[in-house]
Amino acid sequence: MKKIEAFLKCVDCGKEYDLSQVRYTCDCGGTLDLTRDLSGVDGEELKNLFDSRWGQKWGATASGVWRYKELIFDIPDEQIVTRMEGNTRLYPAGKAGEYAGLKNFFLKHEGENPTGSFKDRGMTCGTTAAKYYGAKTVACASTGNTSASMASFAAVSGMKSVIFIPEGKIAYGKLAQALAFGGKTLQIKGNFDDAMSLVQDVCRELNIYLLNSINPFRIEGQKAIGFEVLQQFNWEVPDWFVIPGGNLGNNSALSKGLQELYQLGIINKIPRIAVIQAEGSAPLAKMWKNHTPFEPVKDPDTIATAIKIGNPVSWKKSLRGLEWCNGVVESVTEQEIMDAKAFVDMAGIGAEPASCCSVAGAKKLVDMGVIDKDAKVVGILTGNVLKDPDAVIGYHKDELASMGIKGNFANKPLVIDANVAAVKAALEA
Ligand code: F0G
Repeated sequence: MKKIEAFLKCVDCGKEYDLSQVRYTCDCGGTLDLTRDLSGVDGEELKNLFDSRWGQKWGATASGVWRYKELIFDIPDEQIVTRMEGNTRLYPAGKAGEYAGLKNFFLKHEGENPTGSFKDRGMTCGTTAAKYYGAKTVACASTGNTSASMASFAAVSGMKSVIFIPEGKIAYGKLAQALAFGGKTLQIKGNFDDAMSLVQDVCRELNIYLLNSINPFRIEGQKAIGFEVLQQFNWEVPDWFVIPGGNLGNNSALSKGLQELYQLGIINKIPRIAVIQAEGSAPLAKMWKNHTPFEPVKDPDTIATAIKIGNPVSWKKSLRGLEWCNGVVESVTEQEIMDAKAFVDMAGIGAEPASCCSVAGAKKLVDMGVIDKDAKVVGILTGNVLKDPDAVIGYHKDELASMGIKGNFANKPLVIDANVAAVKAALEA
């Protein structure tokens, strides 16, 4: 297969750059895409190559990201930093499907990645690029999952990692991972948006490689979520993807990947994408619904701390993708997120709060008549249930009243005397 050459292209002004130097933004300030000229590429040949790698037991292309390396970052296998990420399961949604009112609902569980979130797909590509450019230290701002992932991939590949997190606002499981994997963890006095702005200055001034999703290589890796879902469906295209939105990199990646498959003729239908934000952190949903210019949210808030973001860096890429696929943006309340989560968890699948925006959003869009109840829908679950145990326990003990959340579907733990009669009473209650 002939190598498909990639280059960087500005989302705003279209200026192109080759890959010889590190670059995150255009001279005009716009964000960059890793782009390739797909004209003359044989989509059928590429699809057969991807299929021939399915189920491979070992080696870089056994990864659920590098299986598609020709469309990700075409680099020799020995230069790839991988934890065999991806290859996550696609579940029938069970009780979560009934809750959403959908008959044909599937959940793609990205929480089954090595560090428990979809970030590993972007990070394998981002750290491979860091190595390619000779970086010794990498950095990111994070609401938790990016930092957990980056710290792990940096450790695996022998680089140092520096993490900027909003003080006291990240879920414990994620902080624990960042510390455990040896990331230099700086809790800054401010929110994620402050951390995001600071890390960009720091990387520029201290010559550290930036691994937030503003880095175009991160987005390339994350495209593989969509590729893998399609391959799991034998390249049959679902009607909808429903995906949470925070910094808006992941849905940008999803639409970019689908667009490439469509251009190559590997798929012949365009699925619609619904991006779901938490009501207290929903700048894109506001813009979309009110037809107003983009305006950051000043003090974003939500129990879904992963997406507590007021000024998402990838909003333009996100919008471009949504326009291409006739997508929609919706927001959901705190109660809707946690009730949907109760059903994702009760289905035996489990995911962290932000992930459950997918199910809360699907339900809302079905109720609104936007998604047909017979449609084939894929919800992306972005993070593992164990990432945020406080949210789980708080809901099931019905202790989230201060956040305006009721334990509507709580499974309360009971304290009982240590005798059979007490157990019998508890089982009958
Ligand atoms: N779900 C989870 C579990 C996340 O961690 C994130 C983002 C998202 C959804 C939203 O994805 O930002 O691409 O729109 N977490 C980032 C982080 C911001 O730092 O871990 P997005």
